[in-house]
Amino acid sequence: MTNNLKYFIGNWKMFGDFGSFKIIHKINQYISKNKKFNKCKIVLCVPNTLLDFFNKKLKSQLVSLGAQNCHQEEGYGAFTGSVSALMLKKMGAKYIILGHSENRSEGETYGIIKRKITSALKQKLNVIFCIGENYKEKKNGKTFITLRKQIKGSLEKKFNKNKIFIAYEPIWSIGTNKIPKTNELRNTIKFIKRDLNFFFNTNKCPKILYGGSVNPKNIRLFSSIAEIDGFLIGGASQSSKKFIDIIKNYYK
Ligand code: PGA
Repeated sequence: MTNNLKYFIGNWKMFGDFGSFKIIHKINQYISKNKKFNKCKIVLCVPNTLLDFFNKKLKSQLVSLGAQNCHQEEGYGAFTGSVSALMLKKMGAKYIILGHSENRSEGETYGIIKRKITSALKQKLNVIFCIGENYKEKKNGKTFITLRKQIKGSLEKKFNKNKIFIAYEPIWSIGTNKIPKTNELRNTIKFIKRDLNFFFNTNKCPKILYGGSVNPKNIRLFSSIAEIDGFLIGGASQSSKKFIDIIKNYYK
């Protein structure tokens, strides 16, 4: 455990209505009560339909809102059904998830993701850029090659690295209750850090999150890996109790 700020970022996916604000309210109440949680930052990435409503209700320094994807085109345009980073920013998003494997699997290319990151950074959104190998790549020892390709394919050296988080999410771990072995995960996070330091020519690389089946039970395994700056939490972030228990158990 370190004294550094740790990020607990919820990815609600396709979930929630106006009444779901109570989840955020309970999380906020809990962490506001205890000084020891000053060292954690909470972000909830919610559906676009809820951003504005939640933003108006939420009065908290500890909790921020984020979106889950955007169109690559900046501003406005003839893209039926799409939303740009500019529009999400106006609705109160401070963060945005980009390159999630669920979107990559629907045809998002490295180039499209790069354009999305570019337009999100222009809006000064914090970008949570997801990378991760699938099961076959893992089995064939191709994890590092895959991660390097994803990093090089969608990041640019000139990007503001202080506004970028890398979420390492092994695809085989998302929603499956399977998690990497602690040693393997530590090595992968170290590899990503080294690769990013080299890429950005710095020794202060973007923050690295882990995502994939994080829950109140397994969070203790992750807390022993100091190199992880936080977590991207899917299913368990749809319940205030589970989300709070994750934070509670992390700091136990
Ligand atoms: P999960 O999802 O926590 O439900 O595995 C993580 C994610 O998709 O970001």
